[in-house]
Amino acid sequence: MDWKTRVTSLLGCRVPILEGAYGGFGNWRFAAAIAEAGAYGVITASVYRTPEGLREAIRSCRDATDGAFGVNLSFGVCPRMPEMLEICIEEQIPVETAAYKPDSLAPRIKEAGLTWVHKCARVKDAVHAERLGADAVIIVGLEGVGFKSPEQLPTLISTIQAKRELRVPVIAAGGIGDGRGFMGALGMGAEAIMMGTAFMATDECPLGKKAKEKIVRSTPYHPQLRNQVLSPPDPVAFKKAMEMRDQMPVDEWLRMVERMLLKDPAWKIDSDLSGEFLFDQEWAGEQPSRIVSLAVGVLDRVVPARVRVEGILSQGEEILDGWEFLNRR
Ligand SMILES: Cc1cc2nc3c(=O)[nH]c(=O)nc-3n(C[C@H](O)[C@H](O)[C@H](O)COP(=O)(O)O)c2cc1C
Repeated sequence: MDWKTRVTSLLGCRVPILEGAYGGFGNWRFAAAIAEAGAYGVITASVYRTPEGLREAIRSCRDATDGAFGVNLSFGVCPRMPEMLEICIEEQIPVETAAYKPDSLAPRIKEAGLTWVHKCARVKDAVHAERLGADAVIIVGLEGVGFKSPEQLPTLISTIQAKRELRVPVIAAGGIGDGRGFMGALGMGAEAIMMGTAFMATDECPLGKKAKEKIVRSTPYHPQLRNQVLSPPDPVAFKKAMEMRDQMPVDEWLRMVERMLLKDPAWKIDSDLSGEFLFDQEWAGEQPSRIVSLAVGVLDRVVPARVRVEGILSQGEEILDGWEFLNRR
């Protein structure tokens, strides 16, 4: 079946599935494997730290695959954002901005005519990005993981609201990991899905084997996981972080806010932690259950990326075939 949507046309991928970004390990090899599977690979620029490192990664990925991929630029996490963007412009590669407001980069992206997707948690931020000229918007619901907003709503209502309010295509994310989630998202009005957690449980993800096994063994009912994913950030911690806004460089502050929103108990930056991003340290080891989403509820096995993608599509087709009422219309 041809799963063509406005998103596949925009990004040039065969199927409407995007890879999430991953601070610490979203490298070009992983993106290339996902692009090879027909989905859209994403290189997380922060992994490469320098613009030249990013350029090399883009070129290596191009050499490794004819599939479609782009670059994630995460505000507050990725260093030297304007220079990283210039590399994307020179290399003519689509960008995905994420977290915080994309206003500072938007004029340059538009001037350069780059394909641009913005990822955010609230529909009002999606509307704002559309006004700035984003070609598509990824909306991450509460079930997902990443830049948590205290105002975030579940994937279902976020996707539907985004569809109602935007003209540009909507990409749904947050807790999606199988064909049912995929078809549900399309039903809600999305024209593609993005998966972070589900692609982590693939052979090509650069995490350790044990870490991946732990992901597929995790249950969304575990109180710690549920609390981490679903509960809003501690209001006292949130207030304190907001008070610290003008007391440190904005990059450092954003990093700290991220740790606090992800409910890292050691969220305050001190001399030992400054400059380090949560995932760099945590994910090199074997504690994956800290940062995964409720998508673990539909992940049973670690499989090659191609199998994950094909499995979702064939389950999607099975669902369509099983809907007998379609034949009676
Ligand atoms: C370990 C990990 C690290 C992440 N790091 C980033 C990041 O640096 N930038 C970003 O935009 N999103 C980041 N995300 C969020 C994902 O890109 C994606 O939006 C999210 O995983 C979608 O929810 P799901 O996990 O339920 O599929 C990260 C997610 C995970 C699991």
